[in-house]
Amino acid sequence: MFTEFLRTSIPGRAVTGGLVSVNLVNLRDFGRGNYRQLDDYAFGSGGMVLAAPQMKDALDSLSREPGRKPFVVYPSPQGVLISQEIIETLALQEDVAIICGHYEGIDERFVSSYVDLEVSIGDCVLTGGEIPAMLIVDAMSRLVPGVVGKGKAVIEDSFYRGMLDNPNYTRPYEWEGLKVPEVLTGGNEHDISRWRRREAIRRTLTRRPDLVSRASVREYISGVNVAVIAESENVDFAGLSETCNAYGAGRPYIVAGNRELREVMKSKIPSAKIVGSVGKILDTLGEGTMIVKAASSARRNALHSLEAKRMCLEHDGGVLFVFAESDEALDEVDGIEAYVFTDGNDVAMGVRIGIALDRFLGKR
Ligand code: ADE
Repeated sequence: MFTEFLRTSIPGRAVTGGLVSVNLVNLRDFGRGNYRQLDDYAFGSGGMVLAAPQMKDALDSLSREPGRKPFVVYPSPQGVLISQEIIETLALQEDVAIICGHYEGIDERFVSSYVDLEVSIGDCVLTGGEIPAMLIVDAMSRLVPGVVGKGKAVIEDSFYRGMLDNPNYTRPYEWEGLKVPEVLTGGNEHDISRWRRREAIRRTLTRRPDLVSRASVREYISGVNVAVIAESENVDFAGLSETCNAYGAGRPYIVAGNRELREVMKSKIPSAKIVGSVGKILDTLGEGTMIVKAASSARRNALHSLEAKRMCLEHDGGVLFVFAESDEALDEVDGIEAYVFTDGNDVAMGVRIGIALDRFLGKR
């Protein structure tokens, strides 16, 4: 099963090119007695179980260099569900040993003592761990630099950011009465990327809404801005500009109702855009901007941040996150309200903004 897989296509090229090395270990070599026995009857039921001593011998045969132990993965229907995050974590390991179980599995004493990760490839039962092992090798090897043509292709992949991919089309333009969506043949790059984003969002929200909480969505929201309503001179803005920059939110807006405060803010935080009202920001950003007021969990009627994240994705336009020192100032602004803090008063503004932006735009 493995030799053909390791010779073929992209994993095959990774192996022959020396970017990934895969050693196959035949468990049978560690069997006992004339029949090279690996398994035995399960205590308390009739099935067969792979025995711990033989599995341990096989595993020990891998640790040739002292102190260099592989990270041990055991594919099994009882494992945690595989994900791109798990694959990324495995790809960071120097050596990974994948143990292919069969029958009723492996003696639990071996699993609990020597397996680092028991992982399932889905809620279905296969006859053995070989196909899951190939899946893991395939998914890991495409993360190794140089294996997949352009590094960019990996980054743009579905699941890399945690969102599903947009649909794709090729020639012929018309097939069985079905045409390629017109926007794709129009040549307008801006319209095409907007269409691709919208389709990816639509698919993710309808097919896999569970992905949204941990997806990195910044690229799917056309514009992100941050505004802070300042009511006093002593707001703690430490880290504000850097945080906004890190999450692709551009230069932050500071809203100050009176001129004196605006002057103070200008010198306090020179990188910010100082304005007199939220309305002035909307004049610049446009009416299609969705306002998300960041509130504390103590506020009644505030949406869960995940619900607000979904609404940001559904909204076809930019988003303005509004923060304020007081609830009263927030009440003056029209928009949806999402709670992002456990309590309102004793968390510095710069920190609040970091937490909120990460909830909406960071990858879980
Ligand atoms: N072995 C048998 N079924 C499996 C599954 N769903 N995932 C991982 N390994 C398995």
